[in-house]
Amino acid sequence: MKIDIITIFPDFFDPFLNTSIIKRGIEDGFLNIKTHQLRDYSSLKHNRIDDTPYGGGAGMLMMFPPFYEAIKTLKSEDAHIIMTSPQGNVFDQKKAIELSKKKHLIILCGHYEGIDARVEDLIDEEISIGNYVLTGGEMPAMIISDAVSRLIPGVIHEESSETDSLQQGWLKYPQYTKPESYEGYRVPEILLSGHHQNIESWRKEQSVKRTLSKRPDLIKMIILTEEEKKILSKVSKE
Ligand SMILES: C[S@@+](CC[C@H](N)C(=O)[O-])C[C@H]1O[C@@H](n2cnc3c(N)ncnc32)[C@H](O)[C@@H]1O
Repeated sequence: MKIDIITIFPDFFDPFLNTSIIKRGIEDGFLNIKTHQLRDYSSLKHNRIDDTPYGGGAGMLMMFPPFYEAIKTLKSEDAHIIMTSPQGNVFDQKKAIELSKKKHLIILCGHYEGIDARVEDLIDEEISIGNYVLTGGEMPAMIISDAVSRLIPGVIHEESSETDSLQQGWLKYPQYTKPESYEGYRVPEILLSGHHQNIESWRKEQSVKRTLSKRPDLIKMIILTEEEKKILSKVSKE
């Protein structure tokens, strides 16, 4: 997976790209994530990239030409171009899965008042990370890149991402690690039983229970199997 991020703050991404799973994914060749300084694509004095909005109004707007030139340089045949924006569809795991199947993402980070609207003609989609307004698109670009990267085969164990919350629609079952008991707080006995089939059934039921109590809104988006219907009916009565 290749991800090119266009930003006026490439340094912002240093800890993200040089820590833990993303760092290893890059070193092992599963990820190719690069930042690109937007100012390098400006032809103006002092590499200026912003100006006042036509028609008046507060703040500065990022100009069209630097984004046009950066996209022209970085675009590949497979490129899928994303503009971070509070006006886009809200990012979720379904979108992360969809994006993880692309070969090349280009992510544009806005700042100030945002980006000249002509850039909308150059992109494939606008993505918001939530219904609030941030100062810039750098954190949204990191969030999108992170969620997509962990779905790329080899970056983490596939089994691990397959059972993650939301991946199959449900929230993940509760998990525990050593010690077995601490100050009276005990790990559920079933997990110590060594009986894999019972553990699987318990986990499935816990997933349904958690989703029903924490995020009931998710359930209507899941195509339920017969087994899941039975579990849901059972836990709904409890
Ligand atoms: C202050 S915002 C611009 C908001 C714009 N004036 C508006 O009202 O739609 C500056 C930049 O931050 C990023 N941004 C802010 N909130 C965001 C969100 N919820 N999701 C994704 N990107 C966001 C975008 O890149 C945006 O261009």
